Amino acid sequence: MRLKWLTSCVLLLFGAAAWSQPGPTAPPPPTGLRCEYLASPLGVDVAQPRLSWVLEHPARGQAQSAYQVGVSLQPDVPGGDQWDSGRVSAAQSTHVAYAGQPLASGRTYYWKVRWWDSSGNASAWSAPARFDTGLLAASDWKGKFIGGANQLRKEFTLERRPSRARAYIAGLGYYELRVNGRKVGRSVLDPAWTTYDKRVLYVAYDVTAYLRPGANAVAVTLGQGWYAARALLLQLNIELEGGGRFDVVSDTSWKVAQGPILSDSVYHGEVYDARLETPGWDRPGFDDSKWKPASLVDAPKGVLSAQLMPPIRVTDTMVPFKMTSPKPGVHVYDMGQNFSGWVELRVKGPRGAQVRLRHAELLYDDGTLNVENLRRARATDTYILRGDGGEEAYQPRFTYHGFRYVELTGYPGAPKLDTVRGKVVHSDVKPAGGFAASTPILNQIQRLILWGITSNLHSIPTDCNQRDERMGWMADAHLYAESAMLNFDMAAFYTNFLRDIRDIQGTDGSVTDTVPHRGGRRPADPAWGAAYPLIAWYVYLYQGDRRILEEHYAGVKAWTDFQRTHSQDGVLSYSYYGDWVPVEKTPGALVSTFYYYYSAHLTARMAEILGKTADAEAYRKLAAEIQEAFNRKFWNAAEQVYGNGSQTSQILPLYLDLAPKERRGAALDHLRNSIVYYNNIHLMTGIVGTKYGMELLTRGGNMDLAYDLATQTTYPSWGYMLERGATTLWELWQERTGPSMNSHNHPMFGSIGTWFYSALAGINVVPEKPGYERIRIEPQPARDLRWASGSLETLRGAVSSSWSRTERSFGLEVVIPVSSEAEIHLPKLNLNNVVVRESGRVVWRENAYQSGAAGLRGARQTAGAVIFQAGSGRYVFELAEE
Ligand code: BGC
Repeated sequence: MRLKWLTSCVLLLFGAAAWSQPGPTAPPPPTGLRCEYLASPLGVDVAQPRLSWVLEHPARGQAQSAYQVGVSLQPDVPGGDQWDSGRVSAAQSTHVAYAGQPLASGRTYYWKVRWWDSSGNASAWSAPARFDTGLLAASDWKGKFIGGANQLRKEFTLERRPSRARAYIAGLGYYELRVNGRKVGRSVLDPAWTTYDKRVLYVAYDVTAYLRPGANAVAVTLGQGWYAARALLLQLNIELEGGGRFDVVSDTSWKVAQGPILSDSVYHGEVYDARLETPGWDRPGFDDSKWKPASLVDAPKGVLSAQLMPPIRVTDTMVPFKMTSPKPGVHVYDMGQNFSGWVELRVKGPRGAQVRLRHAELLYDDGTLNVENLRRARATDTYILRGDGGEEAYQPRFTYHGFRYVELTGYPGAPKLDTVRGKVVHSDVKPAGGFAASTPILNQIQRLILWGITSNLHSIPTDCNQRDERMGWMADAHLYAESAMLNFDMAAFYTNFLRDIRDIQGTDGSVTDTVPHRGGRRPADPAWGAAYPLIAWYVYLYQGDRRILEEHYAGVKAWTDFQRTHSQDGVLSYSYYGDWVPVEKTPGALVSTFYYYYSAHLTARMAEILGKTADAEAYRKLAAEIQEAFNRKFWNAAEQVYGNGSQTSQILPLYLDLAPKERRGAALDHLRNSIVYYNNIHLMTGIVGTKYGMELLTRGGNMDLAYDLATQTTYPSWGYMLERGATTLWELWQERTGPSMNSHNHPMFGSIGTWFYSALAGINVVPEKPGYERIRIEPQPARDLRWASGSLETLRGAVSSSWSRTERSFGLEVVIPVSSEAEIHLPKLNLNNVVVRESGRVVWRENAYQSGAAGLRGARQTAGAVIFQAGSGRYVFELAEE
């Protein structure tokens, strides 16, 4: 009592300052500060950006009881001069929306946060993080879109040293920005591909350190990219030390000239003539008197919007492990891995010598390149030597290839193994998950998945990386989206892609097969269009992002309505691809109606979450009608199967519980028989059935069978791909190498990655508490699997589950972040009378929970498992027979 009184006095005396002194029991300050999913992003153009932080605590069962956020224009302001949230009693540590002074254009905001733990102990303030606002109003852009040639430059003089300088650039199709001779930033193939008539992305850079008092030069090279033309909008906003500002904008005072890049195309490659280089053109003092003035070009129609996602970068260098010369003068390099990117060439030789690099996924038996499956993509880079006596290094700028093999011809002299190096290029999403298991083939498949996914993140999720497509085929996109989200930090990437989808949506609600719309049709095959509701839903599930639903609810609903107007009596029959690339076909109308139901069902769920009660009711009703129609139309009573009896025909209605109880047994039996007896333990499914099939079997008590399928090595299976030397996932279960459709890097069968985390490692999101606020840890040991381990860096912090077992025991180590809660399932392995210890202490014995272990809140059992309720912390369980 006395102590309390004393504390109050101290508080009264020292006021708020006393609060900010964390005591000896203070929890560690928040870390991992993010703004709109990104660490200290530049160019934020969101009116109320959302802030997230990660909490850690030495004690278990901890939750944030309150937080305080301060946002200021200077780093060291106590509290916040733009926003001081005050002490907010809430557990929320993700997606806290900025609610301070209206954000100004082109400013740097510093923010910090502190928190109070469950016992009310305050942490110290976090280290400050930053976000920079972009150009928020159209009128903030002072420049014009210019062009005229592929190199553009401008010199200017600064009277004093710059204190803060930002470059904002929309360089279409691709740009490389240089200031005073240095490339700005590490991104390549920027900006992201968008529907340029709707949205053009600009990128913001901090160029303070690139500038100096006196003469400066800004230089831009433009590539055609997906825009298939060149246009530059640039603005440099410079604040000078001691006050004053100086702006440089793109206009007709810039000078332009055609540079050494003679041609560039995403599919065909680049031709670079080094003889046309003009050294110094990107520095001040260059004589550009012969250069032409820039001309104004038509501005793309889309609105300018900040690129708030990880840019494409060179992420790795590959050293070839083999070089052969199948013919005189033809040298073939094997990189040992299929990937996206290009090669860096090192060469010395006479002026004008032409070196050609061709890229391929495959070789003929004689060791020469097989480019048949690239179709019309020429995938060829040509370098013409400067020939100044020294070694020349070349990398293309505005193309990329999907390849494992490189053919080098025209090389002057004898090339060596290190004449070429592979550069791995893709959207630089941060790895966020790890998975491993005791059965080697699972780790090998995981490797295929990781390379398959990264190869196909090129500002949009692409179908493939090599042939004349590389488009955002929407079914491919949603089928591997969860797998991508578990393995990588995909939130900002998909936030952008969902806007891409919204950009192509028609006033009739239709969406397109590919996004941006380049191939395929409008309206999309319903299984392709489903990417809109599904990816929005996955971002909500994995990130707890409610705003994504707010942003896209109208669009998702319009897509559902579009399908309704094209349906008849609850059945949606139009279909172009259905369960694509299967061994055994499934009726297209069945697949379309399944996705029509899925869309209606998700529209209802989203409506419910957003508090749109009438809509929720209406779409629940619609979903029920579709369900009834599905059963009327596709249940074959005579055969007791759905559809044509294909595996996918059973999987789809079972996966979404469309099948009424009395039919489930028959449909599941048929599915099992088909897999086990008619097809000797193989999936016959295409990309659609495969994803849902693995999850369905696991849920339906057929984990061993799912495991057998995952570890199968004969055709068709993932293992078959591996046995045939795959280093990425194929487009087809079949091994084909001709001119037909057979990419060897197509991530869509990578949907099995979800199952690795959810079933094998046992980490599951709980839809009612998305974003890992509640976590279900439910590892499912199968057959000879001895251990498995999964870990995730979620927006709230680390989540992990690692288990190992013997015949008579099961060990499980789990990590749950602060403010989260978990349901942890320990499989009883058919043992009798199990005892569970946690860090050595008995927590379950004689069929009853034994309380006392910190963080644990109770337990119950089912026939197969003991299930603990737990708060945050790290737990080490051991289950064994008494
Ligand atoms: C793409 C696929 C895509 C399909 C549509 C193919 O050419 O590569 O992955 O989904 O067309 O059927």
